[in-house]
Amino acid sequence: MDKSSTIDIPVTGQVPRHVAVIMDGNGRWAKQRFLPRIAGHKRGAEAVRNIVRACGERGVEYLTLFAFSSENWRRPADEVSFLMQLFVIALQQEVSKLHENGVRFKVIGDLSRFESELVRLIHDAEHLTRDNRRLTLTVAANYGGRWDILQAANRMLREKPELAAGFSETDLMPYLSLNYAPEPDLFIRTGGEQRISNFVLWQLAYTELYFTDLLWPDFDTSALDRAIASYQQRERRFGRTSEQLAQPALNITRRLTG
Ligand code: IPE
Ligand code: IPE
Ligand code: MG
Repeated sequence: MDKSSTIDIPVTGQVPRHVAVIMDGNGRWAKQRFLPRIAGHKRGAEAVRNIVRACGERGVEYLTLFAFSSENWRRPADEVSFLMQLFVIALQQEVSKLHENGVRFKVIGDLSRFESELVRLIHDAEHLTRDNRRLTLTVAANYGGRWDILQAANRMLREKPELAAGFSETDLMPYLSLNYAPEPDLFIRTGGEQRISNFVLWQLAYTELYFTDLLWPDFDTSALDRAIASYQQRERRFGRTSEQLAQPALNITRRLTG
Protein backbone atom coordinates (compact mmCIF):
# COMPACT_ATOMS: atom_id res chain seq x y z
CA MET A 1 0.00 0.00 0.00
CA ASP A 2 1.26 3.47 -0.76
CA LYS A 3 1.69 6.29 1.67
CA SER A 4 -0.69 9.08 2.52
CA SER A 5 0.36 12.66 1.68
CA THR A 6 -1.21 13.88 4.92
CA ILE A 7 0.81 11.44 7.04
CA ASP A 8 4.16 11.32 5.23
CA ILE A 9 5.64 13.93 2.91
CA PRO A 10 5.89 12.15 -0.46
CA VAL A 11 9.15 12.03 -2.35
CA THR A 12 8.45 13.78 -5.66
CA GLY A 13 10.40 13.93 -8.90
CA GLN A 14 10.41 15.79 -12.21
CA VAL A 15 8.08 13.33 -13.88
CA PRO A 16 4.75 12.80 -12.12
CA ARG A 17 4.56 9.19 -10.93
CA HIS A 18 0.78 9.18 -11.10
CA VAL A 19 -1.32 11.19 -13.57
CA ALA A 20 -5.12 11.21 -13.20
CA VAL A 21 -7.24 12.54 -16.06
CA ILE A 22 -10.84 13.61 -16.55
CA MET A 23 -11.22 13.08 -20.28
CA ASP A 24 -13.92 15.64 -21.02
CA GLY A 25 -15.19 17.31 -24.18
CA ASN A 26 -15.92 14.40 -26.54
CA GLY A 27 -19.49 15.57 -27.13
CA ARG A 28 -18.45 19.14 -27.92
CA TRP A 29 -15.69 17.91 -30.23
CA ALA A 30 -18.34 16.06 -32.24
CA LYS A 31 -20.82 18.94 -32.12
CA GLN A 32 -18.24 21.33 -33.57
CA ARG A 33 -18.04 18.98 -36.56
CA PHE A 34 -21.81 18.46 -36.87
CA LEU A 35 -21.29 14.81 -35.91
CA PRO A 36 -23.26 12.76 -33.37
CA ARG A 37 -21.85 12.76 -29.83
CA ILE A 38 -20.84 9.12 -30.21
CA ALA A 39 -18.37 10.09 -32.95
CA GLY A 40 -16.62 12.18 -30.30
CA HIS A 41 -16.43 9.21 -27.95
CA LYS A 42 -14.88 7.12 -30.72
CA ARG A 43 -12.20 9.73 -31.30
CA GLY A 44 -11.77 10.03 -27.56
CA ALA A 45 -10.96 6.32 -27.35
CA GLU A 46 -8.27 6.83 -30.00
CA ALA A 47 -6.77 9.67 -27.98
CA VAL A 48 -6.52 7.28 -25.01
CA ARG A 49 -4.24 4.95 -26.96
CA ASN A 50 -1.80 7.83 -27.67
CA ILE A 51 -1.73 9.11 -24.14
CA VAL A 52 -1.17 5.65 -22.64
CA ARG A 53 1.85 5.16 -24.91
CA ALA A 54 3.19 8.65 -24.25
CA CYS A 55 2.89 8.25 -20.49
CA GLY A 56 4.82 4.98 -20.65
CA GLU A 57 7.55 6.64 -22.71
CA ARG A 58 7.82 9.53 -20.27
CA GLY A 59 8.22 7.30 -17.23
CA VAL A 60 4.81 7.92 -15.69
CA GLU A 61 4.14 4.83 -13.55
CA TYR A 62 0.40 5.17 -12.99
CA LEU A 63 -2.21 6.63 -15.32
CA THR A 64 -5.80 6.81 -14.12
CA LEU A 65 -8.50 7.76 -16.62
CA PHE A 66 -12.08 8.74 -15.80
CA ALA A 67 -14.13 6.99 -18.50
CA PHE A 68 -17.62 6.87 -17.01
CA SER A 69 -18.86 8.44 -13.80
CA SER A 70 -21.55 7.13 -11.49
CA GLU A 71 -23.58 10.15 -12.65
CA ASN A 72 -23.15 9.43 -16.38
CA TRP A 73 -26.09 6.96 -16.22
CA ARG A 74 -28.20 10.13 -16.33
CA ARG A 75 -27.34 10.51 -20.02
CA PRO A 76 -29.64 9.40 -22.85
CA ALA A 77 -29.91 5.59 -22.93
CA ASP A 78 -28.48 5.28 -26.43
CA GLU A 79 -25.36 7.24 -25.49
CA VAL A 80 -24.85 5.11 -22.37
CA SER A 81 -25.22 1.92 -24.35
CA PHE A 82 -22.79 3.16 -27.01
CA LEU A 83 -20.22 3.93 -24.31
CA MET A 84 -20.61 0.41 -22.87
CA GLN A 85 -20.17 -1.10 -26.35
CA LEU A 86 -17.12 1.04 -26.91
CA PHE A 87 -15.62 -0.23 -23.66
CA VAL A 88 -16.22 -3.85 -24.74
CA ILE A 89 -14.64 -3.26 -28.15
CA ALA A 90 -11.67 -1.41 -26.66
CA LEU A 91 -11.02 -4.31 -24.28
CA GLN A 92 -11.30 -6.86 -27.08
CA GLN A 93 -8.93 -4.93 -29.33
CA GLU A 94 -6.40 -3.38 -26.99
CA VAL A 95 -5.68 -5.69 -24.07
CA SER A 96 -3.16 -7.95 -25.81
CA LYS A 97 -1.23 -4.88 -27.01
CA LEU A 98 -1.25 -3.42 -23.52
CA HIS A 99 0.08 -6.70 -22.19
CA GLU A 100 2.87 -6.80 -24.80
CA ASN A 101 3.86 -3.31 -23.73
CA GLY A 102 4.13 -4.19 -20.07
CA VAL A 103 0.99 -2.38 -18.99
CA ARG A 104 -0.93 -3.56 -15.93
CA PHE A 105 -4.63 -2.90 -16.51
CA LYS A 106 -7.09 -2.16 -13.71
CA VAL A 107 -10.66 -0.95 -13.47
CA ILE A 108 -12.06 0.88 -10.46
CA GLY A 109 -15.75 1.50 -9.94
CA ASP A 110 -18.96 -0.34 -9.18
CA LEU A 111 -19.03 -3.16 -11.74
CA SER A 112 -22.36 -4.51 -10.51
CA ARG A 113 -24.35 -2.50 -13.06
CA PHE A 114 -22.36 -3.74 -16.06
CA GLU A 115 -23.33 -6.57 -18.42
CA SER A 116 -21.70 -9.89 -17.56
CA GLU A 117 -19.71 -9.94 -20.84
CA LEU A 118 -18.09 -6.61 -19.97
CA VAL A 119 -17.33 -7.74 -16.42
CA ARG A 120 -15.75 -10.93 -17.76
CA LEU A 121 -13.53 -8.97 -20.18
CA ILE A 122 -12.46 -6.65 -17.36
CA HIS A 123 -11.54 -9.54 -15.06
CA ASP A 124 -9.67 -11.36 -17.85
CA ALA A 125 -7.70 -8.22 -18.71
CA GLU A 126 -6.80 -7.58 -15.08
CA HIS A 127 -5.75 -11.18 -14.62
CA LEU A 128 -3.65 -11.33 -17.80
CA THR A 129 -1.74 -8.14 -17.03
CA ARG A 130 -1.48 -8.42 -13.25
CA ASP A 131 2.32 -8.87 -13.11
CA ASN A 132 3.19 -6.04 -15.52
CA ARG A 133 4.83 -3.00 -13.96
CA ARG A 134 5.98 -0.66 -16.75
CA LEU A 135 2.78 1.37 -16.43
CA THR A 136 -0.37 0.77 -14.42
CA LEU A 137 -3.37 1.94 -16.42
CA THR A 138 -6.51 2.33 -14.34
CA VAL A 139 -9.85 3.02 -15.97
CA ALA A 140 -12.48 4.50 -13.64
CA ALA A 141 -15.83 3.16 -14.85
CA ASN A 142 -19.10 3.66 -13.02
CA TYR A 143 -16.80 5.31 -10.53
CA GLY A 144 -17.59 8.05 -8.05
CA GLY A 145 -15.28 9.46 -5.41
CA ARG A 146 -18.04 9.37 -2.79
CA TRP A 147 -18.99 5.82 -3.71
CA ASP A 148 -15.36 4.83 -3.23
CA ILE A 149 -15.04 6.33 0.25
CA LEU A 150 -18.35 4.78 1.33
CA GLN A 151 -17.60 1.31 -0.06
CA ALA A 152 -14.21 1.45 1.66
CA ALA A 153 -15.70 2.42 5.03
CA ASN A 154 -18.45 -0.19 4.75
CA ARG A 155 -16.06 -3.01 3.83
CA MET A 156 -13.63 -2.00 6.54
CA LEU A 157 -16.35 -2.00 9.20
CA ARG A 158 -17.67 -5.37 8.04
CA GLU A 159 -14.21 -6.88 8.37
CA LYS A 160 -13.23 -5.00 11.53
CA PRO A 161 -16.39 -4.08 13.46
CA GLU A 162 -14.27 -2.91 16.39
CA LEU A 163 -13.22 0.12 14.29
CA ALA A 164 -16.76 1.53 14.55
CA ALA A 165 -15.53 3.25 17.72
CA GLY A 166 -13.07 5.27 15.64
CA PHE A 167 -10.65 4.70 12.78
CA SER A 168 -7.69 6.41 11.13
CA GLU A 169 -6.62 7.15 7.55
CA THR A 170 -4.28 4.20 7.75
CA ASP A 171 -7.16 1.91 8.70
CA LEU A 172 -9.27 3.07 5.75
CA MET A 173 -6.64 3.32 3.01
CA PRO A 174 -6.32 -0.40 2.21
CA TYR A 175 -10.03 -0.48 1.32
CA LEU A 176 -9.99 2.40 -1.17
CA SER A 177 -10.11 1.29 -4.81
CA LEU A 178 -6.74 2.85 -5.67
CA ASN A 179 -4.97 1.19 -2.73
CA TYR A 180 -2.22 -0.09 -5.07
CA ALA A 181 -1.21 3.35 -6.34
CA PRO A 182 0.47 6.40 -4.86
CA GLU A 183 -1.77 9.46 -4.73
CA PRO A 184 -1.93 11.31 -8.07
CA ASP A 185 0.81 13.92 -8.53
CA LEU A 186 -0.87 15.57 -11.50
CA PHE A 187 -4.57 15.89 -12.28
CA ILE A 188 -5.55 16.94 -15.79
CA ARG A 189 -9.05 17.92 -16.91
CA THR A 190 -9.67 18.66 -20.57
CA GLY A 191 -12.76 20.36 -21.98
CA GLY A 192 -12.53 23.68 -20.14
CA GLU A 193 -14.56 22.83 -17.03
CA GLN A 194 -12.82 23.49 -13.73
CA ARG A 195 -14.37 20.93 -11.43
CA ILE A 196 -13.68 17.47 -10.02
CA SER A 197 -17.07 15.92 -10.95
CA ASN A 198 -16.84 13.28 -8.18
CA PHE A 199 -13.55 11.80 -9.45
CA VAL A 200 -11.01 10.48 -6.92
CA LEU A 201 -11.81 12.79 -4.00
CA TRP A 202 -9.74 11.28 -1.22
CA GLN A 203 -6.52 10.93 -3.19
CA LEU A 204 -6.56 14.43 -4.75
CA ALA A 205 -5.79 16.01 -1.35
CA TYR A 206 -2.34 17.30 -2.47
CA THR A 207 -2.49 16.71 -6.22
CA GLU A 208 -1.42 19.51 -8.59
CA LEU A 209 -4.44 20.51 -10.69
CA TYR A 210 -4.18 21.35 -14.39
CA PHE A 211 -7.09 22.45 -16.55
CA THR A 212 -7.06 22.91 -20.31
CA ASP A 213 -9.68 24.10 -22.79
CA LEU A 214 -8.57 21.47 -25.30
CA LEU A 215 -11.29 18.91 -25.94
CA TRP A 216 -10.26 15.35 -25.10
CA PRO A 217 -10.02 14.05 -28.71
CA ASP A 218 -7.57 16.92 -29.39
CA PHE A 219 -5.40 16.15 -26.35
CA ASP A 220 -2.20 14.87 -27.95
CA THR A 221 1.33 14.19 -26.77
CA SER A 222 2.37 17.83 -27.02
CA ALA A 223 -0.61 18.77 -24.85
CA LEU A 224 0.51 16.12 -22.35
CA ASP A 225 3.99 17.60 -22.39
CA ARG A 226 2.57 21.06 -21.67
CA ALA A 227 0.69 19.66 -18.68
CA ILE A 228 3.84 17.96 -17.39
CA ALA A 229 5.85 21.17 -17.95
CA SER A 230 3.29 23.08 -15.90
CA TYR A 231 3.59 20.44 -13.18
CA GLN A 232 7.37 20.89 -13.18
CA GLN A 233 6.91 24.59 -12.38
CA ARG A 234 4.89 23.90 -9.26
CA GLU A 235 6.33 24.06 -5.77
CA ARG A 236 4.88 21.15 -3.87
CA ARG A 237 5.01 22.21 -0.26
CA PHE A 238 2.67 19.73 1.47
CA GLY A 239 2.05 22.26 4.21
CA ARG A 240 5.63 23.47 4.62
CA THR A 241 7.09 26.87 3.74
CA SER A 242 9.19 27.72 0.69
CA GLU A 243 12.12 28.45 2.99
CA GLN A 244 12.01 24.95 4.37
CA LEU A 245 12.09 23.53 0.85
CA ALA A 246 15.20 25.58 0.07
CA GLN A 247 17.03 23.87 2.94
CA PRO A 248 17.43 20.25 1.92
CA ALA A 249 18.57 19.26 5.42
CA LEU A 250 15.06 19.97 6.65
CA ASN A 251 13.55 17.99 3.84
CA ILE A 252 13.78 14.57 5.34
CA THR A 253 10.51 12.70 5.09
CA ARG A 254 9.10 12.94 8.54
CA ARG A 255 6.23 11.12 10.11
CA LEU A 256 3.69 13.74 11.13
CA THR A 257 1.12 11.77 13.03
CA GLY A 258 0.22 8.28 14.16
C1 IPE B 1 -16.38 12.97 -21.76
O1 IPE B 1 -16.91 13.73 -22.78
C2 IPE B 1 -16.71 11.50 -21.91
C3 IPE B 1 -17.66 10.98 -20.91
C4 IPE B 1 -18.16 11.63 -19.91
C5 IPE B 1 -18.06 9.61 -21.09
P1 IPE B 1 -18.38 14.30 -22.73
O2 IPE B 1 -19.29 13.30 -23.35
O3 IPE B 1 -18.73 14.69 -21.35
O4 IPE B 1 -18.25 15.57 -23.65
P2 IPE B 1 -18.94 16.99 -23.45
O5 IPE B 1 -18.57 17.46 -22.08
O6 IPE B 1 -20.40 16.78 -23.60
O7 IPE B 1 -18.35 17.82 -24.53
C1 IPE C 1 -16.76 13.75 -16.06
O1 IPE C 1 -17.26 14.33 -17.22
C2 IPE C 1 -16.78 12.26 -16.19
C3 IPE C 1 -15.93 11.68 -17.23
C4 IPE C 1 -15.08 12.29 -18.00
C5 IPE C 1 -16.07 10.27 -17.38
P1 IPE C 1 -18.75 14.87 -17.29
O2 IPE C 1 -18.90 15.51 -18.62
O3 IPE C 1 -19.72 13.79 -16.96
O4 IPE C 1 -18.77 15.95 -16.11
P2 IPE C 1 -19.81 17.10 -15.77
O5 IPE C 1 -21.18 16.48 -15.71
O6 IPE C 1 -19.74 18.12 -16.85
O7 IPE C 1 -19.34 17.64 -14.46
MG1 MG D 1 -18.59 16.42 -20.31
